[in-house]
Amino acid sequence: MPPIQKGGTVAVTGAAGFIGSWVVRRLLEKGYRVRACVRDADDAERTTFLREMPGYVSGRLTVHSANLDDEGCFDEIFKGCHGVCHVSHVSTYEDHEYVRRVCDHIIKSVNESGTVRRVIVTSSIAAVISEADIHEVARRPVFYEDRYPDEQNPKRTPERGQGYSMGKVIAQRAFADAAEESGDWDAITCCPADNVGPIQSAHQKDMGPWQHHIETMLLGEYVQSDVYRPWMLVDVRDDAECHIRLLESVQVHNGERYIAWSTETRNVEDIAARIDVLLPEIGLAPPTLVDKHPERHQAREAEFRGIWALADLRNDRIRAVTGVEFRPFDESLRDCVESLLSVAQVKPKRRGA
Ligand SMILES: NC(=O)c1ccc[n+]([C@@H]2O[C@H](COP(=O)([O-])OP(=O)(O)OC[C@H]3O[C@@H](n4cnc5c(N)ncnc54)[C@H](OP(=O)(O)O)[C@@H]3O)[C@@H](O)[C@H]2O)c1
Repeated sequence: MPPIQKGGTVAVTGAAGFIGSWVVRRLLEKGYRVRACVRDADDAERTTFLREMPGYVSGRLTVHSANLDDEGCFDEIFKGCHGVCHVSHVSTYEDHEYVRRVCDHIIKSVNESGTVRRVIVTSSIAAVISEADIHEVARRPVFYEDRYPDEQNPKRTPERGQGYSMGKVIAQRAFADAAEESGDWDAITCCPADNVGPIQSAHQKDMGPWQHHIETMLLGEYVQSDVYRPWMLVDVRDDAECHIRLLESVQVHNGERYIAWSTETRNVEDIAARIDVLLPEIGLAPPTLVDKHPERHQAREAEFRGIWALADLRNDRIRAVTGVEFRPFDESLRDCVESLLSVAQVKPKRRGA
């Protein structure tokens, strides 16, 4: 399928979210027409910032209510669109029948639009790296697009914490199969890493989760997310750019997926310390570690750190097909912190306070 035309119309689901809102802003900056899909367009707290974007006053940006749990919610919105960035979360990743149902009705709206030619499906690196058995990381430590989690492992179940990763793989395949069957559009999957960067609206400080972890560092505490793994980073603005360049690319094909990450990694304790190095003006009090791990995980943390240290992160493919350049993490962290202070009015815990 051809890429979408410059200046074409793109629907973005999850447009009030951290990544979706950057996709909206960058699309507008690049001259596209955008239909921003949110759950409730009348929710001022979550949508005012969209209406303040340049493009809204002229009508190039429109904001639409659509709860993706409601079948047919995108029927009217997708009509006349050339592309869709399906960035949104779903209500749960634990119930895979529900995940399939939601994919099916979004696909139906794409098919019925008669105009959509490309859908970018937002997945996650969880669909690349998440393993029911951590030793699988040591066995297959090169993280690139062809790598899938060990899907044969009997412990790969929602009950064992694999629901998100499994749900993302289900969605990727559902869209690719439907596009193949249709022949009128293609589905390209983007697998973002851990997004850090500026929030655009105060409500986004509690989402993520990565910007929320940074908020907690500013407030004086930090937590290791789930069991230990290093943060594997991408700036949210670069992630948005990846989504858009995949819409525009003449080199991608239905069913392919691309990982959006810079390949930089950090340990959580280093991130907390880095804020003080990058922004000494804040005088941030060193945050204390709150460790919520079950004891069996704590006992194995050194082992986990050793295994993750073997991971070889690759972004050859997305750089080759999109030409995207990933900015250094320091820039993402600095801009994230400054946005938390300025946009969300977070009050950092200062030394001596
Ligand atoms: N953040 C990361 O580091 C990261 C990493 C890898 C992958 N991802 C993927 O990227 C996507 C966006 O993540 P994000 O961090 O931007 O998330 P986010 O800030 O939490 O935004 C997600 C959006 O999903 C929307 N949503 C959830 N359930 C919905 C429903 N039933 N109907 C309609 N909209 C619904 C919400 O809409 P409303 O605000 O309108 O309620 C929300 O704004 C997700 O698919 C996520 O899995 C994120």
